[in-house]
Amino acid sequence: MGKTSSAVNIAASLAQHGLNVLVIDNDPQGNASTALGVDHHSGVSSVYDVLIEDVPMSEVVKSCPDFESLLCVPSTTDLAGAEVELVSLSHREDRLKAALAQYAKFRERKGLPRLDYVFIDCPPSLGLLTVNAFVCANEVLIPIQCEYYALEGLSQLLKSIGLIQAHLNPSLEISTILLTMFDGRTRLATQVAEDVRNHFAQQTLAVAIPRSVRVSEAPSYGQTVITYDPSSSGAQAYLEAAREIAQRATTK
Ligand SMILES: Nc1ncnc2c1ncn2[C@@H]1O[C@H](COP(=O)(O)OP(=O)(O)OP(=O)(O)O)[C@@H](O)[C@H]1O
Ligand SMILES: [Mg+2]
Repeated sequence: MGKTSSAVNIAASLAQHGLNVLVIDNDPQGNASTALGVDHHSGVSSVYDVLIEDVPMSEVVKSCPDFESLLCVPSTTDLAGAEVELVSLSHREDRLKAALAQYAKFRERKGLPRLDYVFIDCPPSLGLLTVNAFVCANEVLIPIQCEYYALEGLSQLLKSIGLIQAHLNPSLEISTILLTMFDGRTRLATQVAEDVRNHFAQQTLAVAIPRSVRVSEAPSYGQTVITYDPSSSGAQAYLEAAREIAQRATTK
């Protein structure tokens, strides 16, 4: 939980600082497209066309209305079928990776700026759409909700990532853990946060995203919380998370 909110709000924070950022909405629910204010009704060209019909990503990418340097590859409900349709296609695990590499070359040819960050928002299931994201990515960001014993739910995900590392993408790295829905007044949240920091000392960002109603309201206005209510605790925390992530990249 917190994948889409984290992807769109961190992407928006980085774009607000002038970085060139792409969000690939790889979830049939289309929540990232909604939050970024990008049209994704049925019939719009989308990541489905990229994955299944070999349409170049450059033909489906849209700019987000609120941020000049933020781009989005939208998702439509068609994508639900892709999970099954991918099975019979060649290179079914690395279609997203190939499409993104081709898009990066396209940008270079056209003299467009290099993308600084690409975020791929994944569906909740660990099917072929998520596998495509893991094969495409170098890093995984895992948001962990501080509301129940979160580490237990993590074992299946870690196992899947281990399999991907072993068989499909040895350079994949769990680089970032982000604590979300944090309420420092509850003992449970404090306990979960402490356990996560003990387990993932290097990966866990110092900032935790608080439970904030503004974060959950923003998507119904087609916005990220960064424009919807920039002074809210949720927006401030996401800006800080983005700052930490950008800082790490420069010190690596
Ligand atoms: N910090 C927060 N404070 C309050 N509500 C939040 C916060 N973060 C996320 N939410 C809300 O919790 C719900 C789930 O969050 P989100 O959509 O980011 O999770 P997800 O992992 O993408 O879910 P899914 O697996 O369904 O795609 C949403 O309604 C969202 O608005
Ligand atoms: Mg989501």
